[in-house]
Amino acid sequence: MTGTLFAISDLHIGYRENREFLEELRPGSAADWLIVAGDVGERFDQITWALGTLRAKYAEVIWVPGNHELWTPQNDPVQLRGEARYQALVERCRELGVHTPEDPYPVWRGAGGPVTIAPLFVLYDYTFRPPGTTTKEESLAVARAAGIVGTDESLLHHDPYPSREAWCAARIELTERRLAQRDPALPTVLVNHFPLHREPTRVLRYPEFAQWCGTERTADWHLRYNAAVAVYGHLHIPRSMVIDGIRFEEVSVGYPREWRPRGGPAGPRAVFPEASAD
Ligand SMILES: [Fe+2]
Ligand SMILES: [Fe+2]
Repeated sequence: MTGTLFAISDLHIGYRENREFLEELRPGSAADWLIVAGDVGERFDQITWALGTLRAKYAEVIWVPGNHELWTPQNDPVQLRGEARYQALVERCRELGVHTPEDPYPVWRGAGGPVTIAPLFVLYDYTFRPPGTTTKEESLAVARAAGIVGTDESLLHHDPYPSREAWCAARIELTERRLAQRDPALPTVLVNHFPLHREPTRVLRYPEFAQWCGTERTADWHLRYNAAVAVYGHLHIPRSMVIDGIRFEEVSVGYPREWRPRGGPAGPRAVFPEASAD
């Protein structure tokens, strides 16, 4: 049976229209897999409902956390913060049969394969800084002056790490170790909520926001780890681009106010086999 490896992100199911869109999603074949590249939602029960619903439809589901999954909203009965919240989500995913960054990397053997799918959780560290700034403090000051401050500053807690950038550094070290242990014979699909390269952030409407969008420390990962494709979300600017000859796919759905002018939410993007341009 041939299937398709699909990817989607930023489902933001706190919005009713997005929740309905998710419920209506149907795979084209019983062999289809779905990558979910973060920002499913904020509330713990909503996130796990969504992943369970998708798991019932697709042969395999691969999830990475977005910043929204890592928020601790005041109205959420689950008040876990930071690493503990992430690990609790990983536990629920395992019960649901959903792959996470903490599990062995699955291998896609359908069309375009075999490729190792590497779900990554690498945060950001304020190194995508505005021009003229050299430190996080200067970068944040520019953002505050522009009135563009990521909501993560108040809702994405970094416990037990001293800062979000320290959590990011720990994630990079852990992830580099994992990637070094993969099968070197196979190309990879690198999946991370935040773009691994800064290039996609160049078109942000508010460039100050880039500091909440990634880290310079992953700028060569698509080359170093033999990526066939890099999948990301977060920017809510769905598009395909090529960096160093490698496909970068932003697969975000985004908020209803963002997709309405485009005529509706974009369905999952085919990663393999690649949809032909028309
Ligand atoms: Fe998002
Ligand atoms: Fe995000």
